[in-house]
Amino acid sequence: MTITSDTPVAIIGAGPAGLVLAHLLKAIGIDSVVLERRDRGYVEQRVRAGVLEHPSVELLRDLGLADRLEREGLSHRGIELAFEGRRHRIDFLDLVGHSITVYGQQEIVKDLIAARLAAGDPIVFEVDDVTIDGIDSDFPTVGYTHDGERHELRCRIVAGCDGFHGISRDRIGEGPSGNTVFDRDYPFAWLGILAEAAPTIDELIYSSHERGFALYSMRSPTITRLYLQVPADERIEDWSDDRIWSELEIRLPTGDGFSFNTGPIHERGITTMRSFVSIPMRRGSLAIAGDAAHIVPPTGAKGMNLAIADVAVLAEIIDDVITDGKDERLDDYTDECLRRVWRCQHFSWWMTSMLHRFDDDPFRRQLQLSELRLVTSSTPAATNLAENYVGVALGPSLRSPATQAGDGRSLAGARSLASEGKVDR
Ligand code: FAD
Ligand code: PHB
Repeated sequence: MTITSDTPVAIIGAGPAGLVLAHLLKAIGIDSVVLERRDRGYVEQRVRAGVLEHPSVELLRDLGLADRLEREGLSHRGIELAFEGRRHRIDFLDLVGHSITVYGQQEIVKDLIAARLAAGDPIVFEVDDVTIDGIDSDFPTVGYTHDGERHELRCRIVAGCDGFHGISRDRIGEGPSGNTVFDRDYPFAWLGILAEAAPTIDELIYSSHERGFALYSMRSPTITRLYLQVPADERIEDWSDDRIWSELEIRLPTGDGFSFNTGPIHERGITTMRSFVSIPMRRGSLAIAGDAAHIVPPTGAKGMNLAIADVAVLAEIIDDVITDGKDERLDDYTDECLRRVWRCQHFSWWMTSMLHRFDDDPFRRQLQLSELRLVTSSTPAATNLAENYVGVALGPSLRSPATQAGDGRSLAGARSLASEGKVDR
C-alpha cells in the first residue's frame, strides 16, 4: 500500500540548497517536505565548505537563522596569497567594503535542521528509492520508501537539491530537449584535513608553490582546516600524518615569519576537482539547484554560496507560481541563475588556474607568477578578486532585464515582511 499526502513543494536533499529553500518558502508562507537519503547524524557531520559570502550571511540573517553563525563564525576581512615564499594580503573590507565569514557547512546544516524541526516542519531522513513522476504536468508526484513503507507526495513543484550524485538532473535530461553539459576535469585533487591545532593567523592563506597548491584555513579558535594539492588518483592511505605535516611545512610560506601549529588529525579526505554546468536547470515542474546543477572547483569557495543563490531565485519563482498563479515564471529560472553560475565558474576556474601546479611547463609557471604579482600589486586587479570572492549581492543586479522590470516585489521584501509578522497567507 502507498501512503499518499499533499504538499505544495517537495524538496529532494537536505544539504544547504534544500534546507535554505525550505526556510525561504516557510518565510513566505509556503509549506514543503524535505526528503533526505542519509540519516541526520551523517548530514550534520559531513565536513565540506567553510567560507560564506557576505550575501549568503545576509540571507541567513534575514531568515533569523544566523544567531550561532554570528556568535561562532569567524569574520575575515581579507585573504593572503602566498608565492615565491612571501605572503601578500588582499583586504576585502578596504577594497569592496565587505568581509566573509568562516563557518563550517555542517554547522549551517545543523542550525537549519534544528530550526526546521523546532518549528514542527518535516524533514524525512533515510528515504530510499526516490522517484519523480508527472514532471511535464502541473501535478508531479515524488515517491519514496521510508521505514519499509512506500509514500507518494503530490505537489506543484519538485525541487531537486540532491547534489551532484542525485537523481534529479538526469530526469531533466530525459526531457524532449535533453540537456547540455559543460565540464572540465582537473589533473589534481585536494587532500583536506581537520586538525586539533589552534590557528596562528586569522585569515586564509592560498599558497602557490612549485610542489603544488596548499590552503591554510580554520574552523574555530582551536581547529585548523588545511588542504594540499595531490594527483587526481592519489590514495589517502599513502599520506601519513607526518607526510601531511611535512608537505604543508614546505608549501606554506614559513620563511616569511609564518608558522603553524600541528595536532591530532580528526578528519581527512580527498576531493576531486571539477567544473560542471548542466542546462536547463528546469523541466516542467522540476527545478534543480546547487550541486545538482553545477560544480565548481573549491578554490574560489563558491559552491555552497552558489547553491544558496540558486534557491533564493527559485523561492521567489515558486512564490509567483503558487501564490499568484504565474506559471510562466518557471521559464525564467535557468536564465536567472546562469549569469551568476557562469561568473562563479569563471572565478573558480581562474583561481584554480592561477594557484595550482599543472605540469612542468616553465612558461605556464611564469604566467602564473606574473598574474599573482599583478593581483597583489594593482588595486583594480585586487578589487576584481575581492569583489568576486565576497560575492555579488543576491537580487536584481544579476537578473535578466526582462525580470528586473517586474512589479517591484522581491523575496527580500517578503522575507522582511515575514520577519516583521506582516505576511499573513
Ligand atoms: P549537497 O550538499 O551535496 O546536498 C545534497 C543532499 O542531497 C545530500 O544531503 C544528499 O545526501 C542528498 N541526496 C542525494 N541523493 C538523494 C536522493 N536520491 N534522495 C534524497 N536525498 C538525496 N563551497 C563554498 O561555498 N565554500 C567553500 O569554502 C567550499 N569548500 C569546499 C571544500 C570541499 C573540500 C568540498 C568538497 C566542497 C566545498 N564547497 C565549498 C562546495 C560545497 O560543499 C557544495 O557546493 C555544497 O555542499 C552544495 O550544496 P547542495 O545542497 O547543492 O548539495
Ligand atoms: C575551507 O575552509 O574549507 C575552505 C576555504 C576556502 C576555500 C575552500 C575551502 O577556497
